[in-house]
Amino acid sequence: MRDYSLIYLNGVRKEVRGREALLMLADWLRKEEGLTGTKIVCAEGDCGACTVLRAFPQIDNNPLQFEAINSCIATVAQMDGSHLLTVEGIQNGQELSPVQKAMRECHGSQCGYCTPGFVMALTGALEKHQSLDKKTACNYLTGNLCRCTGYQPIIEAAITAKQSEEHSVSKRYLTKDTVADLSHHQKESLLIKSGLITFFAPVTLQEAVQFASENPGFKVLGAATDMGVQTNKGKPLPKHLLSLHLISELYEVRKEDTRISVGARVTLAQLRRAVEKTNPEFAVFLNLFASPQIKNAATLVGNIANASPIGDTLPFLLVSHGKVHVASIEKGSVQKREIAFSELFLDYKKLALKPSEIITHVSFDETCQDQILKIYKVSQRKDLDISTVSGAFLLKTSLQGKDKKIEEARLAYGGVAATPVRLPEAEKALQGKVLDSKLIHEVSELIGKIISPQTDLRGSQTYRKVLAMNLFKKYGREVLHG
Ligand SMILES: Cc1cc2nc3c(=O)[nH]c(=O)nc-3n(C[C@H](O)[C@H](O)[C@H](O)COP(=O)(O)OP(=O)(O)OC[C@H]3O[C@@H](n4cnc5c(N)ncnc54)[C@H](O)[C@@H]3O)c2cc1C
Ligand code: FES
Ligand code: FES
Repeated sequence: MRDYSLIYLNGVRKEVRGREALLMLADWLRKEEGLTGTKIVCAEGDCGACTVLRAFPQIDNNPLQFEAINSCIATVAQMDGSHLLTVEGIQNGQELSPVQKAMRECHGSQCGYCTPGFVMALTGALEKHQSLDKKTACNYLTGNLCRCTGYQPIIEAAITAKQSEEHSVSKRYLTKDTVADLSHHQKESLLIKSGLITFFAPVTLQEAVQFASENPGFKVLGAATDMGVQTNKGKPLPKHLLSLHLISELYEVRKEDTRISVGARVTLAQLRRAVEKTNPEFAVFLNLFASPQIKNAATLVGNIANASPIGDTLPFLLVSHGKVHVASIEKGSVQKREIAFSELFLDYKKLALKPSEIITHVSFDETCQDQILKIYKVSQRKDLDISTVSGAFLLKTSLQGKDKKIEEARLAYGGVAATPVRLPEAEKALQGKVLDSKLIHEVSELIGKIISPQTDLRGSQTYRKVLAMNLFKKYGREVLHG
């Protein structure tokens, strides 16, 4: 059993133990390693100032490459098995990196506080694309905010910078020996203790559920994009943390007949790549989920287990016969069961999981050719924002002359109740009917009557009702008129 997190930091091997391992990564970089190029501004994953690059051999980016993550909302312990790069590590000797040069030449920096974050996000993007057009650059920069330069010079720098083999940080740092060392360590469980807190990362599911049963109140740590924000706001870390990052089977996305199965460690970026063909609407929708930095770390299972009524993936999973697959231990052996999404959400932030159960994976239907699925999200800002209301609508139709007769309807919303919901009454009102403007109007009115959203900071009850009704109208019109 290891008692240290193994990390390569700008090419240097580090074994991080005890108190240091339970610090937030950005704090550790700045205070313990003296790498103050990484800035902390929001400490909530919102501004990108703390962006660093991470390469983790388990993640399905083939060939292994560095990807941008926020370092303010993840603990050092979670980085076990990773090679991390900060802004101090990207120049080659005395020579600035292509992105650094372009930022200087295009005047992409004024006060400079956001600059390392932009430089790292763009360095990660160039590792994948070698050069960037404006649209791609903007997509990669949705997680970075600048208050004083304005974005134009930064975007110019992004499209001016060109990557070449000799400048590739992946080529320079991800050597055979380094990757072998990191991979080798992933075969041994990890236990870190500091004060009252225990961080356990086993290599088998059996050990994971054993730990869960022995430590009531334990919390599974996914990427901590939810938990890290809460910790930075003052909520103490739970005493017993369980990380599943060493259990290799939980990194898989599998297709079995028409079902897609996604392991608990699969990131949203990995998921997006994996479902492009099987669930194209969902893959495109994931573009609106947070920033690249968040998606490169956050898991689908974390989004579900967080049990928020506005989790973006939940309406899609409700209309796609989603199920969570959970495990626990009984009399020394692993017990597994599945819970359908229709029975998963009991109340606000309350799931139908037993206290010692953990989610191992989630499964859902492939989207078929004869289904018309659309997913919508309304938020105050298009990119990097949590939704006010979201909806997923799925119709199966058959042609009756020129008309579309509805064989099956599934409607689900987020943000209109204490939990994400399906609307069986509205679905019934569509069943067997011909889709036309009158029906769309009637069902939209019915939706307004059925739902009873809460008023909160993101929107009033009335606003949410109108949004929910209009989203369905939008869907209906898109189905009717293409
Ligand atoms: C800046 C920012 C932007 C965001 N944007 C969006 C957005 O656009 N849409 C959206 O829906 N969300 C958004 N989020 C919320 C968050 O990123 C997602 O909910 C994400 O999917 C959580 O995944 P995670 O792996 O980080 O979960 P974690 O934070 O690690 O865990 C979340 C919860 O799930 C539990 N958990 C995790 N794994 C398991 C498991 N295997 N078994 C049992 N319980 C488990 C944890 O114990 C915890 O209670 C955003 C967050 C931030 C910080
Ligand atoms: S400091 Fe703002 S995203 Fe980390
Ligand atoms: S250069 Fe000042 S915040 Fe961006």
